[in-house]
Amino acid sequence: MGYLKVVIDRQVLRNNLREIRRMLPSNTAIGAVVKSQAYGHGMIECARVFKEEGACFLVVSLLDDGVRLRQHGIKGGILLIGGIWPEEAKDCISHGITPVVSGIEVAKSLSRAAQELQKEAVIHLKVDTGMGRLGITLENWRDTINEILSMPGIIVEGLMSHFSVADSPDASDMAYTQQQIEAFERVVEEAKERLPNLKWIHLANTAGIIKLPRAHWNLVRPGLSLYGGVKVPGTSITEAMEVSSRILHIKRVPRNRFLSYGRAFRTSRETIIGVVPVGYSVGYLRCLSNRGEMLVMGERAPVLGKVCMDLTIIDLTHIPQAGIGDTVTILGGKGKNRISVFELSKWMETIPYEVFCLLGGTHPTEREYIN
Ligand SMILES: Cc1ncc(COP(=O)(O)O)c(C=O)c1O
Repeated sequence: MGYLKVVIDRQVLRNNLREIRRMLPSNTAIGAVVKSQAYGHGMIECARVFKEEGACFLVVSLLDDGVRLRQHGIKGGILLIGGIWPEEAKDCISHGITPVVSGIEVAKSLSRAAQELQKEAVIHLKVDTGMGRLGITLENWRDTINEILSMPGIIVEGLMSHFSVADSPDASDMAYTQQQIEAFERVVEEAKERLPNLKWIHLANTAGIIKLPRAHWNLVRPGLSLYGGVKVPGTSITEAMEVSSRILHIKRVPRNRFLSYGRAFRTSRETIIGVVPVGYSVGYLRCLSNRGEMLVMGERAPVLGKVCMDLTIIDLTHIPQAGIGDTVTILGGKGKNRISVFELSKWMETIPYEVFCLLGGTHPTEREYIN
């Protein structure tokens, strides 16, 4: 059991990309982030849409995803931001995938593989300006770049970094982001002298694109905004994903009865309940117990009691016309009662990224693309 249907509107994806482009100077290219199943939206379909819309790179985090894109006939730049393990160097080069390199060991493996294949390893170097995750530290970047440049077969085509708090309105976070921008500018200024093949310089994720024109350089890496997980005033960016299920069972329950595990809900009146075959196993998290809402016939139906592994109870008392098999909207819907990713992420005490990944990426029974 556990029935979740995910519908992705390609036209919305297209429109979101166009809206992002409107925020950019004409010489700034787009690297569309399709990692992690395109944030739950399905990597291959999304990649096709973004390529058609002129994305210069598709950005993935695993070599396997890059290879899968190639196997589906997708041509053009694929940027592997997660990097590779040394033993993946040959596959990476032979599939024409551009790895982001953060250290010597991987660079050496790419150099060796390039020589064996009699090809070049085209790479982007990542500098850690404050994210503190991947990337060469600011203390080491000069020595590291020098060493990498001495390796045969390596072409450094890109230089990049990544923001850690660019989406935060907090003053100290904004100052931190500013420091990241300035550190990156210093690196670029100095490094570009030594990098004769440098073609791409990139820093901005969604927040950087929206808020920080100074960080646009000639390539940006939007993810969340492509899928509509961010509100951008003055644009029509919106969610491309709609998630639904269907009513499995309906019954009338007398007053004063407990519903679901843990006796966390007791009826205060005669109640019509609907049972929906979704639960935390498909990303409808347990924290939605007694808190979330679903849409039935355009009306809000509150979740009653604990969300189970693959069943959730909703209140249909005020929607008596609802029947078995009727659609239950979990994310999306039309009209004033629409459930947005922002509302769902508030109930789930998380961020829109995670809502999309959980509901779209875990185990949808059915995924459909429209438009
Ligand atoms: C290196 C890098 N660039 C860009 C992105 C896209 O970020 P966003 O989804 O906030 O646009 C990510 C996402 O995590 C990332 O890891």
